[in-house]
Amino acid sequence: MDTRPPQDSKRFPRFLLDGEVVEARDATATTTLLQYLRGPLGRCGTKEGCAEGDCGACTVVVGEARDGGMRYRAVNSCIRFVPTLDGKEVVTVESLRAADGTLHPVQQAMVEAHASQCGFCTPGFVMSLFALWLERDRVKREEAVEAITGNLCRCTGYRPIIEAAMRMHALGPSAHWPRGPDNAGRRRAALPADAAGVSLPGFHAPRTLDALADAYAGAPESLLLAGGTDVGLWVTKQLRDLPPILYLGDVAELDRIDERGSVLEIGAAVSLTDASRCWPSSPPASAPRRCATRARCAATSPTGLPSAIPCRC
Ligand code: FES
Ligand code: FES
Repeated sequence: MDTRPPQDSKRFPRFLLDGEVVEARDATATTTLLQYLRGPLGRCGTKEGCAEGDCGACTVVVGEARDGGMRYRAVNSCIRFVPTLDGKEVVTVESLRAADGTLHPVQQAMVEAHASQCGFCTPGFVMSLFALWLERDRVKREEAVEAITGNLCRCTGYRPIIEAAMRMHALGPSAHWPRGPDNAGRRRAALPADAAGVSLPGFHAPRTLDALADAYAGAPESLLLAGGTDVGLWVTKQLRDLPPILYLGDVAELDRIDERGSVLEIGAAVSLTDASRCWPSSPPASAPRRCATRARCAATSPTGLPSAIPCRC
């Protein structure tokens, strides 16, 4: 049975931003999140540096429902297509400060450590540290270094940023952006939830393996998109027109790791970050050793390992 929607049936991507659901009616299949933030949403705090996933100026944090709560990760918004944000939460640098102007502990730590630098790199550093602040109770030096790998500053100001990372948890909780299960539960409940996947001209997001197989059989010229760390550059750097996209990221059966005896089956939508957690102590020889946290969070095993694309950073 062909489960693809009729050609004229559209389902626009919807995501949560500062507690409000944004329906991205004016985003195309390949509009990047960075373009959408700085254009229609007027959020210019997120900057464009390289537009190819290397510099971290465009870093935002994306949250999604996981394991009964929320999981937040820093991502490069310059190579992330808006339709892939459907059903998720987007957090930008503007989201961190409270309405009365109170800085978030991450921002306050940056101020106190004299770590704030130019307006291009600083928002990206802040958002990488914010993802780390959400994930940990305290931060060791090596964790701070790891978190800002891929945030480039040509002016060599890393030491105070690492200090800010190590002191940010000592500044107490944030009333505006608290951590913990209560906040995660509230945010999870506010996520937009639609029964059908996104469907736009040139972009279709099946929800099941069967629906994906049907859609691919009906349009075998389609491009299968997962993390987009390769494909994003085809658009932002090579200015290519892409064939219709079939997005794998919403197919639950592909975002799974199964262990069968001595064999690990890693789904095509599993990020390198998740895959690496189940590697034995020595990762596969082909695994990228030096790649930015954000690239690993987006890149998937089928493309990320063979091409080692995240190693560009
Ligand atoms: Fe450089 Fe996105 S603008 S990583
Ligand atoms: Fe921003 Fe160096 S690039 S201070």
